[in-house]
Amino acid sequence: MHTKGTTSKFGVIEHYRKYLPVTESTPVVSLGEGTTPLISCPRLSKRVGRAVFVKNEGANPTGSFKDRGMTVAVSKAIERAAKVLICASTGNTSASAAAYAARAGISCAVILPAGKIATGKLLQAFAYEAKIVAIDGNFDDALRLVRELGQGGDFVIVNSINPDRIAGQKTAAFEIVDDLGDAPDFHLLPVGNAGNITAYWAGYREYHVFGNSTKLPAMIGFQAAGAAPIFYNRLIEKPETVASAIRIGNPASWKQALAAITESHGAIDVVSDEEILAAQTWLARHEGIFVEPASAASIAGLFKCCDSKEAAYSFRKIPEQSCIVCTVTGNGLKDPDVIVARVKELKSVPATVNEVRRVVGL
Ligand code: F0G
Repeated sequence: MHTKGTTSKFGVIEHYRKYLPVTESTPVVSLGEGTTPLISCPRLSKRVGRAVFVKNEGANPTGSFKDRGMTVAVSKAIERAAKVLICASTGNTSASAAAYAARAGISCAVILPAGKIATGKLLQAFAYEAKIVAIDGNFDDALRLVRELGQGGDFVIVNSINPDRIAGQKTAAFEIVDDLGDAPDFHLLPVGNAGNITAYWAGYREYHVFGNSTKLPAMIGFQAAGAAPIFYNRLIEKPETVASAIRIGNPASWKQALAAITESHGAIDVVSDEEILAAQTWLARHEGIFVEPASAASIAGLFKCCDSKEAAYSFRKIPEQSCIVCTVTGNGLKDPDVIVARVKELKSVPATVNEVRRVVGL
């Protein structure tokens, strides 16, 4: 089913039509993505001594930022009479592509690194009934296969090497400027295949050119320490990190990410798995925002900028009156595996008031 939406502002295409590569005849495939909350975070702001907002992209229809790009990529694919979509994924792209393909009524093949996809994301691909191919290889191998398969006429690639994906994802920057009334001073986000940092930077620049903001933010990207090709400036053949969404050793938008960082006077840095998991727990415990480990890389990075002299972008360079936005890219329920271990330790007690009081500590 192709839909024009139930209201004129249903989804990012209707919201930001004039900035997107669509025409009146493009069939809009939407699930009501975008308009995600930009959350003012008092405890996080106090912890780092600067005003911090969290852009919660886990609030999108399939639980990640990918939906913004997917609505545009799938709408354009339908306009061009595509029959089958294809993508490589660490989990979120495949969940989103499968959902939007289902919404459009076409089929979708997802190529995944076997055994490396977080449980919730794999469940999504099954629920939307994608054609799932698990390969003996990592994400970079999957993307190589997708590039090859895309050269024939059978498949339309919906990875972020498709410019329609980047066009859709830049709407997150538009929303931030619309909510704040201007661009922030610093924008922190996780980096994997590097499409999102590319898209945000394009969005901030475009809105600035249109006169919707007076300034541009410094873009600061964070990679997981075991999967940090851009930071180390070399391919990583066997990337490893608990943040499976960003376990990528050869990012497709490497050059564009470097351009975003250089042009914006930003930086690229790394955070360890321990720092990522600590930040995930901190954000859930102190701000009520539960994100997946890859998403917590931006918060771990914020803490690193604030706490460590080693940081590529130490807070000595971030004035106290700065406005900082951190994007958290995906919902915590997608990647429950680390927390499930803690859930398993839960023991039942006799159903008495005294026992409840004892366990609660009151
Ligand atoms: N955060 C999450 C939750 C992701 O799923 C991804 C990428 C990123 C951050 C990094 O964004 O690739 O644009 O730099 N996930 C892709 C996928 C690779 O297949 O779902 P990026």
